[in-house]
Amino acid sequence: MSTKAVWPDGYDKLVLDTVDSTMNEAQRHLSALSGAISHPLWIMSHRQTAGRGRRGRAWTDPTGNFAATLMMRLDEPPAQIALRSFVAALALHDALSEATGLEQGFALKWPNDVLLNGGKLSGILLETLAPNMLALGIGVNLRSAPPSEPDAAFAPVSLYEETGLRIGVDDFFPYLVSGFARWEDRLRTYGFDPIRTAFLSKAVRLGEEIEARTMRNTTRGVFETIDETGALVLSTPQGRVAVPAADIYFP
Ligand code: BTN
Repeated sequence: MSTKAVWPDGYDKLVLDTVDSTMNEAQRHLSALSGAISHPLWIMSHRQTAGRGRRGRAWTDPTGNFAATLMMRLDEPPAQIALRSFVAALALHDALSEATGLEQGFALKWPNDVLLNGGKLSGILLETLAPNMLALGIGVNLRSAPPSEPDAAFAPVSLYEETGLRIGVDDFFPYLVSGFARWEDRLRTYGFDPIRTAFLSKAVRLGEEIEARTMRNTTRGVFETIDETGALVLSTPQGRVAVPAADIYFP
């Protein structure tokens, strides 16, 4: 591991032993404070008993894996708030590279998964707690990979099982938070363009054929780029298609 990361100014933290889900804890926290939070708050728990993932899936969270939710007030339109999905993915990529010292193996899969050696290492979940109040949940399989779901696009992997490196959740936490603070500053200062460019530079399957599946349909095409709204742009026989949200599969 490289030198310890420093917790950035302007972010509060709450560390718990066990919780149902850090997403639920964020909601309870907001209700208890009647909606008033002065700074962005990171809620981290050493264990979750009812973690959840995208599309209503369960997120299994054994001890040793990282689970946290950032709650943050953002007085911006919903589409702009949603760009934090990319900010978080880049922060995670940086945090993993810095904490492990590994320069290879990590990659990003649109919209926000971090892959390690081609398997799913982490997950990011965005929810709205109240108007302009984002809850951004991040789970990282630092210690062990949960069993694969039948419809999973990518088998889960863990950092320890893939690399033999043991990174504790308390050590990992400041790397992630400082990475997030850095990319968030860039978004606020320069807009989405540098975020989009950085994401594309780490993206898997750029220029190759992929499949975007939603509840309603499946679009297959060549992954061309990410547009200025964050949508995936596929080049298909019918022309360019922008996909705002989907699960990605590699045919
Ligand atoms: C995904 O399906 O890929 C997203 C998984 C998000 C899991 C994290 S763990 C911390 C936070 N609390 C939850 O219950 N879910 C998110």
